[in-house]
Amino acid sequence: MERTGAMNIVLDAFNAAPSLRVAAHVIGWPFKWLGLKGDPSMPPATRALTALGPAYIKFGQVLSTRPDMVGDEMAAQLMVLQDKLAPFPREIAVETVESSLGASLENLFSEFSEPIAAASIAQVHKARLAGTGEEVAVKILRPKVERAFRKDIDAFYFAASFIEMFSPSSRRLKPSDVIRHFDGVVQGELDLRLEAAAAGEYAANTANDAGFVVPHANFGMSAKRVMVMDWAEGIPFADVEAVAAAGHDRRALGERVLQLFLRHALNDGYFHADMHQGNLKVSAGAEIIAYDFGIMGRIDEYTRRVYAEILMGFIQKDYRRVAEVHFEAGYVPADRDIDEFAQALRAVGEPIFGMDANQISMARLLNYLFEVTQRFGMETRTELILLQRTMVVVEGVARTMHPQINIWQVAQPVVESYIRQNVGPAAAIKDLAKTALVVARFGPKLPGLVEAALSGRNASTSGSAPKKRTFGTNLLFILVGMLAASNIGLLYLLLP
Ligand SMILES: Nc1ncnc2c1ncn2[C@@H]1O[C@H](COP(=O)(O)OP(=O)(O)O)[C@@H](O)[C@H]1O
Ligand SMILES: [Mg+2]
Repeated sequence: MERTGAMNIVLDAFNAAPSLRVAAHVIGWPFKWLGLKGDPSMPPATRALTALGPAYIKFGQVLSTRPDMVGDEMAAQLMVLQDKLAPFPREIAVETVESSLGASLENLFSEFSEPIAAASIAQVHKARLAGTGEEVAVKILRPKVERAFRKDIDAFYFAASFIEMFSPSSRRLKPSDVIRHFDGVVQGELDLRLEAAAAGEYAANTANDAGFVVPHANFGMSAKRVMVMDWAEGIPFADVEAVAAAGHDRRALGERVLQLFLRHALNDGYFHADMHQGNLKVSAGAEIIAYDFGIMGRIDEYTRRVYAEILMGFIQKDYRRVAEVHFEAGYVPADRDIDEFAQALRAVGEPIFGMDANQISMARLLNYLFEVTQRFGMETRTELILLQRTMVVVEGVARTMHPQINIWQVAQPVVESYIRQNVGPAAAIKDLAKTALVVARFGPKLPGLVEAALSGRNASTSGSAPKKRTFGTNLLFILVGMLAASNIGLLYLLLP
C-alpha cells in the first residue's frame, strides 16, 4: 500500500483513527521501496491489492460492493477487481483446455475467443462446441493460482496467530478459525469440477424461480482446471445506467436480488455466496443471470430457523424475541443479561426501521453492531461467516441498483412465508413425521435393541443376524409415527 500510494487513500476511506494512521505509516515506511510495484496504470488501491495476490483481491471485491462504506470513487476503482483484471494469454488457456480435456482444441470447439473476462482465480473465453455449434463459456483457472493463494493464506495464518498472541480481546473473534474457514472455501474454489457440481445443484434448486437464470454446466467437459457451460448474455449488474437505458426496472431488479438470496438461504439452505455485481447480469428478458459458483454457502435447518426468527424479530420490532433467539442458539453467552441485550438490539434496529437505504449509514450501523458483539462477549461463528458476508454484499448490490430500497419491507414476504411453513405447528408436524421415518428405518432392529437394552446387553454383541426389513413393519412404524406426530401437532394447536 505504501509503495503504490494507497495507504492514505485506504486510511481515509475507513476513517482510520490518528493512532492507527501513525502506526500504519511507521510500519509501512520501509515498504515505500521494498513493497511490490504492481501495475502502475491502475489506481493506487486496486494496484496494491492486485500486486498482493488473489486473496487480497477477494477482499477488495467485497469492498467494491459498498460505496456507502468506502466512498463512490474507491468503490468504482475496486470494481475492476470483479471481472476486469489482466487476463493470461490465450495460448496458455488453449494448452490447459487440451491437456485437461484430452483432445485438441479443433476437436472440441469450432471457435475459441480471446479472454472476455478475468477475475482473481480464473478467466472466461467464449467458444462454440465443435459438435453441436452451441455457444458456450469456457472457464479456465489461472496458471499457478494455487501457489499464489497458498502464499497469501499462509501469511494470513501467520498474522492471525500474531494477533491472537498480542491482543487477548481479539480472541473471541477467532482469527485463526476464520482463516481456516477461508482456506477451506478457497480450496473448494480451486477445483472447477466442484464448481460444475455446485452450478448443477443450484440450477436444480432455482429452476422454478421466476426471473432468475443459472447457466447450465456441461459436466462431460469439466475438469479440475476447465469448466464449460452454456453461454448466457446480459448487461452487467454494475452498469446501472445501461440497465436502465435498456428499459429494465431497477427497483424490481434490486428487490429481486435481495429476495432471491433470502429465499435460497432460508428455503434451500444453499445460496450463492459471492454475489457481487461481477457475477450478475440482466438478460434481454429482464431475468437476473448468476455466474460463478465457486463459493456457495450452506446452512442447516436449525440455523435457518434461527436466522428467520432473528429477521422476523427485527421486522416486527420484537427485540426481546430477537434476544431470546440469540441466547437459545448460544450466540450470546448464557451468563449475559438478556434484557440488556434486547435493549442494545433496539438501539440497533430503531434508527433504521422504515428508512430508505440511502438514509442509513451502513458503516455506522456495522460499527455499532460490532460494539454490541464486543460488549456481550459474542464469538465468531464460522458457520455463519459466508451468510453474514453475503448479506453485506447483496444489500450493497441491491441498494446500488435501487438506492431507495427498504430492505425490511422487501425481506418481509420471504421471511413470513418461510416462518409459516417452517416454524410453529406445521414445522412440528414435519419434524415428527421425519422422526417417524427414522424410527421406521430402524424398525426391524428395534425389537433387538429393546431386548438388548432391557437385558443390559449390547445389541451388537448379541450375535444375532439383522432381521429382514419388511414393508409391513416399515408401514407400521410410519403409521405410529404419523399418529404421534398428528397428536402432538394437534396439542400444539390447542395449547395457548
Ligand atoms: N456462462 C457464461 N456466459 C457468459 N458469460 C460468462 C459465463 N460465465 C462467466 N461469464 C463471464 O465471465 C466472468 C468471469 O467468470 P467467473 O465465473 O465469475 O470467474 P471468476 O471466478 O474468476 O470470477 C463473469 O463475470 C461473466 O461476465
Ligand atoms: Mg466472478
